[in-house]
Amino acid sequence: FKHDVKVGGSGRKPPSFAFAFDIDGVLLHVAKPIPGATRVLKFLNDYNIPFILLTNGGGKHETERVKDLEARLGVQLSTDNFVQSHTPFQELLEGPNSLRDKTVLVTGSDYEKCRSIFKEYGFKNVITPADIYAADPTIFPFQPAASFTTPSQPLPKPLYSHPGPPNPTHLPSHLQIHAIFVLNDPRDWALDIQIITDLLLSHAGYLGTYSPLNNTPHLPDRGWQRDGQPALYFSNADLLWSAGYHLPRLGQGAFQAAVAGLWKRVTGGEGLKRGCIGKPYRETYRFAERVLAGHRREVVRAMGGAAGVSGGGESGGGDSGDSGVGALERVYMVGDNPESDIAGANGYVSEEGTEWVSVLVKTGVWSEERGGKLEGVFKPKEVVGDVMGAVKWALKREG
Ligand code: G3P
Ligand code: MG
Repeated sequence: FKHDVKVGGSGRKPPSFAFAFDIDGVLLHVAKPIPGATRVLKFLNDYNIPFILLTNGGGKHETERVKDLEARLGVQLSTDNFVQSHTPFQELLEGPNSLRDKTVLVTGSDYEKCRSIFKEYGFKNVITPADIYAADPTIFPFQPAASFTTPSQPLPKPLYSHPGPPNPTHLPSHLQIHAIFVLNDPRDWALDIQIITDLLLSHAGYLGTYSPLNNTPHLPDRGWQRDGQPALYFSNADLLWSAGYHLPRLGQGAFQAAVAGLWKRVTGGEGLKRGCIGKPYRETYRFAERVLAGHRREVVRAMGGAAGVSGGGESGGGDSGDSGVGALERVYMVGDNPESDIAGANGYVSEEGTEWVSVLVKTGVWSEERGGKLEGVFKPKEVVGDVMGAVKWALKREG
């Protein structure tokens, strides 16, 4: 492998290209390395060719997940070049509308894990559906699923006074939820969908209330999700992903479709207003490019180049000139899912002028036999067998 490619980087600069690797279906399949994955990553490490791992997976803090991956792949990795579906949510801690001190509801595969991820990110008031269920089990009138019994925390102390209509439930009337985050694939869809729907129908995110704007014909500003209800964010729109079964399995996108479908029924046809990140959304590619820019500076530093002296900062991208890193001209996005990895790379227009080149592998969700169509935005620049083939193709192309 080492001998049949020429490497673009030389001296104290990384090459003008980099890689972005999807994880499930490209590097791993059911938590086991896909043949060639370890060799490829070691090679890139050895030759100082920057790369980022860009996954729609989540549910563990980045530090924990990187440790896991290191053990599985047998390669040294870092959180510096690692972006999961929910990693960009950290940007919502910053700026004038920061959610740092607001109350947010999180859900995903494990409520307590989701809470601890968000706490580690810096969100101060993080509650889960289990907390709400514990405070008032009448909110969900069915037999609890096993995970409801995971430890829950008492609901937060009063943070807000309640300007809305009286709250007839046992929940504290001060409890106002400002945003809802789906971090990865939820397990308890029924409870989650009940609480999410309650909040989308509430007055300003006060659980147990019902917004008068929802259905009061004489109010001129009536309408759905127009009364300060919490923003709803999904981190991964993948309908399908590559798991252990011989056919692709439903992912977080299926949960999103269920919430949106139900919302249509509840409202009589209204589209669900929500925010989506993860691949294929541009926000995630913008975030990934910024992380990659920082990582390239680290690579230069490790090579003994100039970035440690004059580079740095989190401005991201555009690292030509002073920092000694040189511009990032191309990123090869190696993915297995045309609707996620490939469409995202094809559709992304980088503000830094970086070109994203999509490369589809056959080791994951897409297969010729099932006839996934590769047209328009889903058409990769190249189709290869596996991750090794992708890197070889790109390196040859780079000369
Ligand atoms: O749940 C993870 C899945 O939807 C996709 O992960 O690594 O293929 O983006 P990945
Ligand atoms: Mg994948």
